[in-house]
Amino acid sequence: MGIAYFEDSRVFKLDTPNSTYMIKIADEEGFILHLYYGRKLSDEKVDDLCRINQHPFVPSKNERDRCSFMDTAPFEYPGHGLGDYRDDAFSVLNGDGYSATSVLFKDYKITKGKPGIKGLPATFAGEDECDTLEIIAYDKVNGLEISLFYSAFRDVDAIARSVKIHNTGKYGCVKLTKVLSSCTEFYGDEYDTIFLHGTWARERNIDREHLGYGKHYVSSVRGESSHQEHPFIGLLSRNADEDHGDVYGFNFVYSGNFIAQAEKSQFDSVRVLMGINPVDFCWNLKSGEDFEAPEVISVYSANGIGEMSRTFHDLYRKHLIRSKYRDMKRPILINNWEATYFNFNTEKLISIAKEASKLGIELLVMDDGWFGHRESDNSSLGDWYVNEEKLHGGLKYLVDEVNKLGMKFGIWMEPEMISPDSELFRAHPDWAVQIPGVKPSMSREQYVLDLTRQDVIDYTFGQIEKILKSANIEYLKWDMNRQLTDLGSAMLSKEAQGELFHRYCLGVYELQERLVTEFPDLLIENCSGGGARFDPGMLYYSPQIWTSDDMDPVERLKIQQGTALIYPLSTMGAHVCDCPNHSTGRTTPFYTRGYVALAGTFGYELDVTRISEEDRKRIPGQVAMYHKYNPLVRTGDYYRVASYNDNKEWDCWEVVAKDKTEALVTIINVVGRVNHKARLIKLKGLDPHKTYSLRYYNPETGEEDDEYLKAKGDSLMYAGINMVGDYHGDCKGRLLHVLEV
Ligand code: DGJ
Repeated sequence: MGIAYFEDSRVFKLDTPNSTYMIKIADEEGFILHLYYGRKLSDEKVDDLCRINQHPFVPSKNERDRCSFMDTAPFEYPGHGLGDYRDDAFSVLNGDGYSATSVLFKDYKITKGKPGIKGLPATFAGEDECDTLEIIAYDKVNGLEISLFYSAFRDVDAIARSVKIHNTGKYGCVKLTKVLSSCTEFYGDEYDTIFLHGTWARERNIDREHLGYGKHYVSSVRGESSHQEHPFIGLLSRNADEDHGDVYGFNFVYSGNFIAQAEKSQFDSVRVLMGINPVDFCWNLKSGEDFEAPEVISVYSANGIGEMSRTFHDLYRKHLIRSKYRDMKRPILINNWEATYFNFNTEKLISIAKEASKLGIELLVMDDGWFGHRESDNSSLGDWYVNEEKLHGGLKYLVDEVNKLGMKFGIWMEPEMISPDSELFRAHPDWAVQIPGVKPSMSREQYVLDLTRQDVIDYTFGQIEKILKSANIEYLKWDMNRQLTDLGSAMLSKEAQGELFHRYCLGVYELQERLVTEFPDLLIENCSGGGARFDPGMLYYSPQIWTSDDMDPVERLKIQQGTALIYPLSTMGAHVCDCPNHSTGRTTPFYTRGYVALAGTFGYELDVTRISEEDRKRIPGQVAMYHKYNPLVRTGDYYRVASYNDNKEWDCWEVVAKDKTEALVTIINVVGRVNHKARLIKLKGLDPHKTYSLRYYNPETGEEDDEYLKAKGDSLMYAGINMVGDYHGDCKGRLLHVLEV
C-alpha cells in the first residue's frame, strides 16, 4: 500500500487496499498522463497502455502531428487550447489576453498523511492512514505552478484529489477562468453513467444511462449543490449491478456551483471531469498568490455499486465528519414545522414537548417563525431576535421549561438570508447580493446575504452566537431556502465580481467553521429547502443533513436510496411524518413511516398532541425500536437487496454489522397485490459459515416475535428466504432481525 515512484519508467503507483492508480510522466517535455485506474496491480509495468510509446503520437519524434497527440493523450490535468479538443480542466486569461494553458511535469513530493485545504472542507487522515503525492507542474507561458494532489487512503479504496495554482508572477495578475479539481481518463470500454437528479421534495433520484459519444454532464449554477443535480458521477462497466462489475464513483467535496462530466471521445476513451463550474467563475490570481480548488473523492469498486456505496460510507464516517456526534446515537427529535408551520407560541410548543417527553422523545426543535415579526415566509430573515408576542417569556424561559421536562432544545435559523421586510435590510440594503441599480429577483420573498463580505460574515456570526448563548440550545438546524441570482457584491471590485459564487461558498464555510469551533458540543443539522445542500462539503461541518421535505415513506424510498448511494445512513435526516402526508397526500401505516425513518437519524415531524390515540400509543415502542437498532444502522455496512425505483413494487435494504454477527433487513411492500408470486430475498454480506436466527419485529408489541427461521449464512445469501408475506394493502413494511446464534 502507499505511493511509489519508479524512476526508470517514470511511473507513480498509488495503492489503496484493493485498487491501483497510475500516472506516467512521458516524453522529453514531461506530459503528465493517466496510465491506469482499477483493480490492484502488483507492479507498475503497464506502459504499453500508454499511446505515448507508439508512433505517431510522440511529439518529440513527430512534431508534425502534435495535435493528434494532444487530442488523444490521456492527460491527468488537461490544459486549454493547444490541440486537445476534448473538454479541459484548466484555462486562464493572462495579462496579454491569451487563454491557452499547458501543464507539464516539474517535480514531485510524497508525504505521509494528508494536507488540509485552506478555507475548504476536506477529508482528513493521520500519517498512518494515508499517503499523499504532490505533482508539481508548470505552465511556462502563464507563469503558473500547478500542484496536483493525490491522497491514497490505506483503509478504504478511495483517492482524494485537489489542485493548487500558484502565480509565480510572470504576468502579474492572471485571471483563472476554469480550475477543475480532477480529470480521470478511461480507455475504450463501454460504460454506463449514474447521475442523481431531482427537484424540491424529490431529491437525488438515481438515473442510470448508457454513455454515448460526446459530453454528458450535470452541474449547478445556483450557488449551492442543489436539489436538481448532484456533484456525483458513477461510471460503471455495462454489466455492473449492485454486486458485480467495475464501478467508479466521483464525488465533489464542495457545496457551491459544480460540473461533473463524462465525455466519450472519437476514439472511445472517456474523460471524467469534476470541479467548480466555470460558468460565472473568474478568479484574479495576483502575483505570489495561491488558488486552492476543492477536493474530489474517487472510489473504485470491483464488486458493483454496493461496494462503492460502502466505501463512501466508511470514508465519510471516518475521514470527513468531525462532529462529536458522528459516532453517537442522536437524540430522537420532534420538529414542529409540519405540526404547526408558523402558527405556534410558547404554550403550543410546551404542550408538544410535554406529550413528546412522556413518549420518550428526547429533543424539541423549534423551526421557522420564532424571530422578528415572522408570521409567514415573507419577512424578518436577518432579524435574529425573539418575537416575544409568540414566545411569551422569551427564549430562555421556553428552553428551561423544555429542559425541565427532561428534553433537549434545538432551534432553526436561516443565517444566509435577508428579507426585504426586515430591520436588517432597512439598515443595510447593500448587504444583499444584487447588481447596483437593479431590483434583485426574490425567491420565497427573500434575498441572499452577501457572504463575500467580511463585515457581513462577522455580523451574522455574532447574531448566531448571541442566540445560541442566550439559552441551553443543544441543536441547530441551519437552513438555506433560496438559490442565488443577480450576482453582484457592493464590496467586490468590478474585476472581482466573477469571484462571487466561490467567495459566497467560502463565506458559508467560514461561518460554519467558526460555529463548530465556538460550539463543539452543538449538534448541527444542515438543510436547504429540504435536501438541496446534501453534499460532502456540508458533512464536514454537520454530522447530519435534512434529506428532503418530502417525508412520505414511499417517496422517501427513492430519495433515501439515491442519497445512500454515497452518504452513510447516519447522515440522513429522516422523520416520521403526519398522515396523510403533507407533500403527497398519501396515507401510510404509522409503523411503515417508522421503518423508513429508522434508515436515517430518526425523529418525528407531526403534532403529537393531535395524532390519533392509536398512533400515539405506538411511539414508545417505536422509540425503543430506534434505541435497539440504531447502533447497527449507524455503524454497519449497507446493502441494497431490492429497489422500488427499479421494480415499481417493493423495496428492501439491509444493514450488516461489521463483525457480521447481526443484520437488520427492512422490507417495504409498496404495492398491494392479491395472489402474489413468492418473493425470494437473498440476504447479503453475512458470514457464510455462521448460523443466524431470524425474527420479525412486531410493531404492535414493540418486541421481536418468536424465531421464524434458523439458517446458515450461506443458505440465507445463496438460496435466500421466501417472503411468503402479506401482500394485501399498500405500503406494508417489515423489519427482520438476523442474529448470530
Ligand atoms: C425548509 C426546510 O426544509 C423545512 O424543514 C423547514 O425548516 C422550512 N424550510 C422552514 O421555512
